[in-house]
Amino acid sequence: MCGIIGYIGGGNAAEVVYRGLKRLEYRGYDSAGGAFVCDGRLVIAKKEGKVEKLSPLLEGVRANIGIGHTRWATHGVPSDVNAHPHSAGGIAIVHNGIIENYAELKNKLLDEGVIFRSDTDSEVIAHLLARAYKGDLTGALAETVGLLKGSYAIMAICEREHIISLACNKSPLIIGRGDDGYYCASDEPALAGYCPDVAVLQDGDIAELRADEASVFNGEMQLVIRETVPNLAVCSELGLDGYPHYMSKEIGEIPAAVAQTVKVFGSVKQKIAETLGGAKRIILTGCGTAYHAALLGKIYFENMLGVPSEVETAGELRYKKNVVGESVVAFAISQSGETADTVEVARLLKSLGAKVVAVTNSLHSQLTRVADAVVPVAAGPEICVAATKSYSGQVAALYLCALAAAGTEGDGGLGALPETIERTLERTDTRSLAQVCAHSRGVYFLGRGIDYAVAVEGSLKLKEVSYVPGEGYPSGELKHGTLALIDGQTTSVFVICDEALAEKSVVAAEQVLARGGKVAVITCIDSVREKLENRTEYFCRLEKVDKFLSPLLSSAVLFGLAYDAAVALGRDPDKPRNLAKSVTVE
Ligand code: AGP
Repeated sequence: MCGIIGYIGGGNAAEVVYRGLKRLEYRGYDSAGGAFVCDGRLVIAKKEGKVEKLSPLLEGVRANIGIGHTRWATHGVPSDVNAHPHSAGGIAIVHNGIIENYAELKNKLLDEGVIFRSDTDSEVIAHLLARAYKGDLTGALAETVGLLKGSYAIMAICEREHIISLACNKSPLIIGRGDDGYYCASDEPALAGYCPDVAVLQDGDIAELRADEASVFNGEMQLVIRETVPNLAVCSELGLDGYPHYMSKEIGEIPAAVAQTVKVFGSVKQKIAETLGGAKRIILTGCGTAYHAALLGKIYFENMLGVPSEVETAGELRYKKNVVGESVVAFAISQSGETADTVEVARLLKSLGAKVVAVTNSLHSQLTRVADAVVPVAAGPEICVAATKSYSGQVAALYLCALAAAGTEGDGGLGALPETIERTLERTDTRSLAQVCAHSRGVYFLGRGIDYAVAVEGSLKLKEVSYVPGEGYPSGELKHGTLALIDGQTTSVFVICDEALAEKSVVAAEQVLARGGKVAVITCIDSVREKLENRTEYFCRLEKVDKFLSPLLSSAVLFGLAYDAAVALGRDPDKPRNLAKSVTVE
């Protein structure tokens, strides 16, 4: 949610900033901008829209120091004027986060005669800094953040000092040393190829970068050393590799994500078995797709461990009356490990006595610092805003946790699954169904039990990348309301992989057909084929696998469907409108 990058050294900052912003674009693409000091003068270039629109404005900019920003709008519409950097008094800043008390601060500054140019919350930081500045930018930043409430990762440069000053609180910020200077960014991909190692700043840290030196201070301005970790982002994994979109590339990488997650689980298996040993209650939480993976986790834990488990979105769990008794284990699931609601609810549940397990694709994220134990999802970098392979990795990780806690030897069939997913992806062509969905007034995804958990994810994915409205719904509930929406202009996609409940979903499909609705079916059950195949718009027969593993096949098909629908409608599946990948604000 907003990406920021900074560089100071012997190279051209404009190139580093532009390249870094391209790599951070999945954090927001409403506008992009950079600030540089050229011959002692601030040069600012910013533009509404995607990062590539900045490129012509940076031609000819030569500077050894610069900061950049790619925006996901929170306060103020996407526009040139609301784009970062913001500046005042020869100081420029970029900011990721939300300044909760900005209105109060802004009113005070307005009373003092300060003129604001934008509608953003961030602009107050530039004015406060300009007011506090007395020849020491880092000191002025420390003074300024003392006035701020909310979340922030801030980079500041000024005309009179050759440094970058940094501050962060509840928004990610890393620094790294390269061959020709120092770098800072929201996350690791931006520094891939420049910095083999990075230091992760902690909440309340202030830092100062020079071309040959980095200093980090805690909130009391005492010098501290932050642990350096390997930068896990690798340049070769960040490109499109011949695919038209990251979404198609990442769907193709689902088998590898599952295989790698199985491989690395060995290193945490014992710890997870111990953490879950004696658990009387399990809470699972996350947002969006991660929440949908949690729905499957609940099914695994209840069926394989017999431990009562509950699932709630992090945004709801965070603000309800939480009663955490003895022996509660909470699973916080997040691709990015930076989602504000998920990180905060993990903190809360931990403070209430729960043991917190993070299931994440980002091993150096805030979530891993909060958690008592970490289960790595080894999906590799996921750049498309829509989560695909990370979901598959999360599902595999939760299944492995349940197996480990149940004391089951082996991988429960998961080791062989990547090949099955590979075959499924090769053999399945969802383009005809995508055309039908793309031109439907509504698309309903239906299933029962484990299939319902997949149906809601299929629905989210289609909405997110194609903007076709729809809903994921339990097929047994259809007749209690949603059936009123069914007619010839709607499509109902049934997921039917749980043999015990298959007949019930077949009945629901009959009810849709009886009302003239279009039906598609994704199933691994032969009897469903006999009953429905000839009357459907689309019928996908999956290989028969264990019911608990079937979501990894059916979801892969639904991801392909969402992608094909987005392409059919001319959408950009990698950067859906209004969205960003890491939701680091509330
Ligand atoms: C998924 O396609 C979405 N982009 C979104 O729902 C996402 O899963 C959610 O924001 C949670 O992100 P996280 O896994 O990084 O916490």
